[in-house]
Amino acid sequence: KTLWLIVPAAGQGRRMGADKPKQYLMLGEHPILVHTLARLYEAFPKASLVLCLDSDDQWFQAEWVPFAAWQRVTGGIERMDSVLNALHAIPAQDDDIVMVHDVARPCITTDDLHALYQAVTHHTGGALLAMPVADTMKRANAEQQSTCTEPREGLWHALTPQGFHYGLLRQALESARHQKRMVTDEASAVEALGRQPQLVSGRRDNLKVTHPDDLALAAAILSAQSDTFTQ
Ligand code: CTP
Ligand code: MG
Repeated sequence: KTLWLIVPAAGQGRRMGADKPKQYLMLGEHPILVHTLARLYEAFPKASLVLCLDSDDQWFQAEWVPFAAWQRVTGGIERMDSVLNALHAIPAQDDDIVMVHDVARPCITTDDLHALYQAVTHHTGGALLAMPVADTMKRANAEQQSTCTEPREGLWHALTPQGFHYGLLRQALESARHQKRMVTDEASAVEALGRQPQLVSGRRDNLKVTHPDDLALAAAILSAQSDTFTQ
């Protein structure tokens, strides 16, 4: 059976404020997108990749893709539109597994990818990498004053990848779009159907490169990871 990897890479990187979308900024010797695809390929060399790219993308180079089976699709206005375009473009079966991973998370590890994949095969509601919230959480009013402390128990940060059976994910995202509900991750669309994706505790260094200072942090993480993995 086919494992489908969907990589939304059609964002503009506005918060990064660089002269090109953040997935094309260099991290050491390679663009972020190249690091992310290399990590996915290392874990799942036989998977089929679907890359969502902006229709005006001027930076992507096809020789960067290590997968034998892959295709590009045009991204949409929001992330969920990009992912839906990918789901509509592939000849998947309802019970095929689809994993969606942000191009902006180049520090993903093989262990986390394999753990998530295992969880998706065991949970019909799908699964996502996540990490328990560590800080004390404050609720603010309109004046940015702290009005109360929210209990931290049971609060998690949602990361990617997030994995589901194709039929469930497609139904969830189509229904979110139909009801004009904004979803920022796949799991929230699936939750809205009454399903409960499994939270898989992931590494804390699965950083989403978002702001300019994340670049140095991501470079340090990659280099620390390659020290532990290769020595
Ligand atoms: N993404 C996408 N299509 C969109 C918007 C975002 O494929 N219409 C992708 C981004 O390329 C990224 C992921 O979704 O891999 C997560 O989005 P985010 O981190 O917000 O990236 P950007 O939207 O590019 O950044 P910003 O919000 O700062 O503009
Ligand atoms: Mg965005």
